[in-house]
Amino acid sequence: MTTKKLLILAGDGIGPEVMAQVRRVIDWMAKKRHITFDLTDGLIGGASYDKFGHPLTDATMQDAFAADAVLLGAVGGPKWDDLPFEVKPERGLLRLRKDLQLFANLRPAFVFDALAEASSLKTDLVKGLDIMIVRELTGGVYFGQPRGITTLENGERQGLNTQVYTTSEIVRIAEVAFDLAKKRGNKLHSVEKANVMESGLLWREEVTRLHAAKYPEVELQHMYADNCAMQLVRNPKQFDVIVTDNLFGDLLSDCAAMLTGSLGMLPSASLGAADAAGNRRAVYEPVHGSAPDIAGRDIANPLATLLSFGMMLRYSFDMAEDAALLDQAVKNVLDGGLRTGDIMQPGKAKVSTTVMGEAIVRELDKLAG
Ligand code: IPM
Ligand code: MG
Repeated sequence: MTTKKLLILAGDGIGPEVMAQVRRVIDWMAKKRHITFDLTDGLIGGASYDKFGHPLTDATMQDAFAADAVLLGAVGGPKWDDLPFEVKPERGLLRLRKDLQLFANLRPAFVFDALAEASSLKTDLVKGLDIMIVRELTGGVYFGQPRGITTLENGERQGLNTQVYTTSEIVRIAEVAFDLAKKRGNKLHSVEKANVMESGLLWREEVTRLHAAKYPEVELQHMYADNCAMQLVRNPKQFDVIVTDNLFGDLLSDCAAMLTGSLGMLPSASLGAADAAGNRRAVYEPVHGSAPDIAGRDIANPLATLLSFGMMLRYSFDMAEDAALLDQAVKNVLDGGLRTGDIMQPGKAKVSTTVMGEAIVRELDKLAG
């Protein structure tokens, strides 16, 4: 059995305390499933800034390149809000994505039956919901040049960002989305603003071309991003896989996440291109942020980070069976009535971060006999 190299970047806010629960599961796997991980810890975000004056150091970047996968907690918090743009905690995360060339961001939005009533939408609209948003992650307005704030000749200041996509960037993300759609419900919505943006028009043309050339069996629908936002809250179950650009993906994935009842439940994967051996660089992280308001109080929900670790098992390490075991443990613990504060419902038992983590391990013990 080969040992997998795992870099853990717990980050800021609730990051470290939810990551501590993942450690429990990693320890459990080493003991009970004989799967060992070679763990390295690193700093990112405000935690890295406080120690090194930068949100992601070259040395940590080296560790990321050397790892088989990276598991990230969360970055940011009010403490670092007034820092210059280049050293803000978020820049660390953006550098990690960009330098590792993680162009494909997979953001599943699914509803656990036990939590369907916690959605802000009516239960029947969301029960059984299972959407996969595929967000382009290394292009578009997040990284486009030119960018900056300048002073014009008339003394006015101007903020500038550039939305830009090339055909190869569009095709590689669309391929990831079509491939996923084939393994799921065989339905893909491609989302842009082709009615007002040239980059959106190119996106639509390239996706249409790729569909005809390589994926004619997948049902493809084009949709404007504003309409998609509306349709997500009107009738979310019409969607299976959604592919979209970096900025629209940022917005739509938050919207989809909220449909599920708790942001605290959702994992994500950010993947690079496959090498000759089929391995991809990858970072796994919860969709939620660092939640500084509740940090350090042992009340945060660790399940999104645990499920992100599950995605890692599935997508990076081909350990579908162990990932399914973890998914099942989460489901059973929720069915059993345990809830962290963010997903608390009447009649359920409110528990701490730690107790939730311990309950998952106990459930794994039961399931694995
Ligand atoms: C996300 C976040 C990030 C983004 C921030 C923290 C830079 O909102 O992962 O969705 O905008 O991509
Ligand atoms: Mg976001």
